[in-house]
Amino acid sequence: MLTTTLVFTFLSLLYTVSGQQVGSYQTETHPKLSWQTCTRSGCTTNSAGEVALDANWRWTHITGNYTNCYTGNTWNTTICTDGKTCASKCAVEGANYQSTYGISASGNALTLKFVTKGENTNIGSRVYLMASESRYQMFNLLNKEFTFDVDVSQLPCGLNGALYFVQMDADGGLGKSSGNKAGAKYGTGYCDSQCPRDIKYIDGEANVAGWQPSSNDTNAGTGNYGTCCSEMDIWEANSIATAYTPHPCKTTNDGGQQRCTGQQCNVPDRYGGLCDPDGCDFNSFRMGEKNFYGPGMTIDTKKKMTVVTQFITNNNSTSGTLTEIRRVYVQDGKVVQNSKTNFPGLLSPYDSITDKFCDDQKKVFQDATSFQKNGGLVQMGKGLSKGHVLVLSIWDDHTANMLWLDSNYPTNGDASKPGIARGTCSTSSGNPKDVEANSPNAQVIFSNIKFGDIGTTYTSR
Ligand SMILES: *[C@@H]1O[C@H](CO)[C@@H](O)[C@H](O)[C@H]1NC(C)=O
Ligand SMILES: *[C@@H]1O[C@H](CO)[C@@H](O)[C@H](O)[C@H]1NC(C)=O
Ligand SMILES: *[C@@H]1O[C@H](CO)[C@@H](O)[C@H](O)[C@H]1NC(C)=O
Ligand SMILES: *[C@@H]1O[C@H](CO)[C@@H](O)[C@H](O)[C@H]1NC(C)=O
Ligand SMILES: *[C@@H]1O[C@H](CO)[C@@H](O)[C@H](O)[C@H]1NC(C)=O
Repeated sequence: MLTTTLVFTFLSLLYTVSGQQVGSYQTETHPKLSWQTCTRSGCTTNSAGEVALDANWRWTHITGNYTNCYTGNTWNTTICTDGKTCASKCAVEGANYQSTYGISASGNALTLKFVTKGENTNIGSRVYLMASESRYQMFNLLNKEFTFDVDVSQLPCGLNGALYFVQMDADGGLGKSSGNKAGAKYGTGYCDSQCPRDIKYIDGEANVAGWQPSSNDTNAGTGNYGTCCSEMDIWEANSIATAYTPHPCKTTNDGGQQRCTGQQCNVPDRYGGLCDPDGCDFNSFRMGEKNFYGPGMTIDTKKKMTVVTQFITNNNSTSGTLTEIRRVYVQDGKVVQNSKTNFPGLLSPYDSITDKFCDDQKKVFQDATSFQKNGGLVQMGKGLSKGHVLVLSIWDDHTANMLWLDSNYPTNGDASKPGIARGTCSTSSGNPKDVEANSPNAQVIFSNIKFGDIGTTYTSR
């Protein structure tokens, strides 16, 4: 009895001093979001779906009292003397989804609002689809089709309502890092192909070493560490432009989450790190079809649309090699095939992403070939086969004002040259200060998510 008590006390002491803790002021209740899985015999609804807010958006404070560990864009270095100590003393708090973060779900629809003025002002959000309260839903997209409806009508220039997959751990890194006590329930473990260094906790340690507050973002900064993993952007879009883009990585496990430092995180050499930051994008406007996607166009962004993305393998099997990523739209009950590439110098018109399309596109646009150097579609497919987490977000861009998506980029490039023009937004648009002031009520609504065998997730009317 005595021994048992002693052992228990010792273990619980270890437990409480060893990691990124969980706060207890706000109960964490995930908004419920239903979605469907489909086969030839029909679709079945998964009503146990729910979404969790990313840890970076959460209040982090001393475990047990209200003192902030991080405020605005700086750490409290009295508490956070180093990353391990900080994670052992600080907790991430539960979220009030609707009133603090502007996130609400109803049935199969998720609304993400841009600016929410509560006690504090919140800008944007990022959430993950869960399989249970404490684990992310994992998807293997190979030989499958992923479909959703989206309303981008309230997303002006400079905004991005994104739906994408990243190769995060299903438990948010809880099992891998003894310092992480919060896990997927609290949205830990984010990574992507930019190897972001603005993440506050990575691998169960606070990113305090070398932390520099951003010069133009009062809510962000960057630390010495970044977090890399492979990323499949199904949808990066506003009402003016859209792109879908695979980004392979050479991290552990063919693109799995890996903490990076220095050049591994793609700095200073953008192309010398563990991931492909550019990807191989298909943006209809950039590919030369300027009347396909936008207000009143073939795909009318004033109305809800269905977006279908198909992951084709060499042998029509989930164990095959990824060879093609196809796109189909459905709007007003009508199936619309993706636009075709249309510019001089490209021999064949492409309407999907293949390695050949990527080779040709990069050559004609005179873009870097980091997609190919990171293994192209084959490596992307290897990563996908290990399982990816679904991310839904709304964001503005403090680095490049979203001009890479919806305007001429680089802004001093010749817009008549293939690859420079990506959308009709002005090169002076998208400054976060302006969009936050002028479009606080921007929002994106994602709904009707379906995942299944190719050809089973959509119909025409
Ligand atoms: C919060 O907790 C820390 C560490 O336990 C302590 O040093 C500090 O005085 C507390 N602050 C308040 C306001 O209670
Ligand atoms: C930083 O933390 C220390 C220790 O808890 C506290 O006394 C101090 O007020 C905090 N500073 C800020 C700016 O919150
Ligand atoms: C904002 O600051 C970051 C570094 O803190 C910099 O990389 C970025 O270019 C700046 N953005 C603009 C639009 O000036
Ligand atoms: C895979 O399926 C497609 C479409 O049904 C078919 O055209 C193709 O021949 C199949 N490929 C293989 C290797 O079975
Ligand atoms: C599909 O191809 C991969 C290699 O490209 C192979 O490992 C796998 O066994 C194949 N699966 C089937 C069902 O043929």
